[in-house]
Amino acid sequence: MGKSKALEVPQVTSHNESCGPCLILFLLIKMINKSRGKILGVLALFLVMVWYSIYREDRYTQLFYFPVQENNKTTCPLGEVEKKAAQLIGNYTRDHPLFLQLKDYFWVKTPSLYELPYGTKGSEDVLLRLLSITHYSLPESIQSLKCRRCAVVGNGHRLRNSSMGDTINTYDVVIRLNNAPVHGYEQDVGSKTTMRLFYPESAHFDPRTENNPDTLLVLVPFKPMDFQWMEAILNDKKRVRKGFWKQPPLIWDANPEQVRVLNPYYMEVTAAKLLNLPMKKPRKVKQKPTTGLLAITLALHFCDLVHIAGFGYPDSANKKQTIHYYEQITLKSMAASEHNVSHEAVAIKRMLELGLVRNLTYF
Ligand SMILES: *[C@@H]1O[C@H](CO)[C@@H](O)[C@H](O)[C@H]1NC(C)=O
Ligand SMILES: *[C@@H]1O[C@H](CO)[C@@H](O)[C@H](O)[C@H]1NC(C)=O
Ligand SMILES: *[C@@H]1O[C@H](CO)[C@@H](O)[C@H](O)[C@H]1NC(C)=O
Ligand SMILES: *[C@@H]1O[C@H](CO)[C@@H](O)[C@H](O)[C@H]1NC(C)=O
Ligand SMILES: *[C@@H]1O[C@H](CO)[C@@H](O)[C@H](O)[C@H]1NC(C)=O
Repeated sequence: MGKSKALEVPQVTSHNESCGPCLILFLLIKMINKSRGKILGVLALFLVMVWYSIYREDRYTQLFYFPVQENNKTTCPLGEVEKKAAQLIGNYTRDHPLFLQLKDYFWVKTPSLYELPYGTKGSEDVLLRLLSITHYSLPESIQSLKCRRCAVVGNGHRLRNSSMGDTINTYDVVIRLNNAPVHGYEQDVGSKTTMRLFYPESAHFDPRTENNPDTLLVLVPFKPMDFQWMEAILNDKKRVRKGFWKQPPLIWDANPEQVRVLNPYYMEVTAAKLLNLPMKKPRKVKQKPTTGLLAITLALHFCDLVHIAGFGYPDSANKKQTIHYYEQITLKSMAASEHNVSHEAVAIKRMLELGLVRNLTYF
């Protein structure tokens, strides 16, 4: 191979320490001159890999990944949720585990200030039995994400005919609530479910049809009976039927490895910091957060981006309007509940105004 004029460079002596890059450039050009064929081969291989990783939009082939501008999958507002959540939630921290762990009840009984639903005071013994059969880890596939993009899907009527399904499925983490079905509603609500938050009375009777095989089934404990219900089902003990305001499933076909128990800390934060409910005598206060607001709070403690869909209730004057996308009930059915949905709406509005969360459907 003859040396071409264009590739000739001025002499750079190795003792010229002020020009390290020049030396590297010089050596590189020398090498190129020597083995142009090989270099072209490597270049071609590199280009193929770049093309392939862009084509696959695979976030894990990091080395050759270049963000694709036309979708926003890769733009991650790192640190933004933390910064804004701290403005809204006093003493905001991401240090609390999402799920209860056996080790906190085994040797040392972790003292809790509150009874359920805001703490585990008085429930330690049943927790010992329940937590010995459930798990507490977040799956590695979520744990290892560089950016956790989360969608919290409420059960609101606004999801009907929304065609949001494909959008919802693009999030890394999709959190769903209670017994909301997916089957038959995929176009509007999507089909991916990373986590489902529920309590015995709101558990779907057929968890397998409405979840993915790897969905985390997250029990939200409101009362000690809720632990007992779960433990009896998973250990196939005699079911307790009393103490529920609505008959929960007696047979519940779920894999114990997918079951998690939500840390009541998040219920406490929702009540005390987002709804400003008094914590002194929680039994005296009738109002409790909904699973929906709780799910948003939870997301604010482990996601890098939180979008919500299907939140919001009709105007209280609108007595005929159904409130859920999948069943024909109206606000009247909420009257006896211990939730104050207009109070919660104020809290969600604040989050939207702050840019802490974004709404995918009208709120
Ligand atoms: C991507 O994000 C930017 C700013 O966040 C926004 O203006 C733009 O519309 C988004 N593009 C798409 C395709 O969502
Ligand atoms: C934050 O924590 C401190 C110390 O535990 C406590 O005194 C204070 O009231 C907390 N603030 C809020 C807003 O919870
Ligand atoms: C949804 O769309 C169907 C068919 O287009 C229509 O019949 C129905 O009324 C719509 N439902 C709502 C709640 O808008
Ligand atoms: C519900 O919350 C609203 C707004 O915060 C408040 O005005 C109303 O009194 C509350 N209702 C009940 C029953 O506590
Ligand atoms: C979010 O809600 C507001 C009303 O609070 C509405 O104007 C806006 O269109 C909603 N965004 C989307 C994407 O639906």
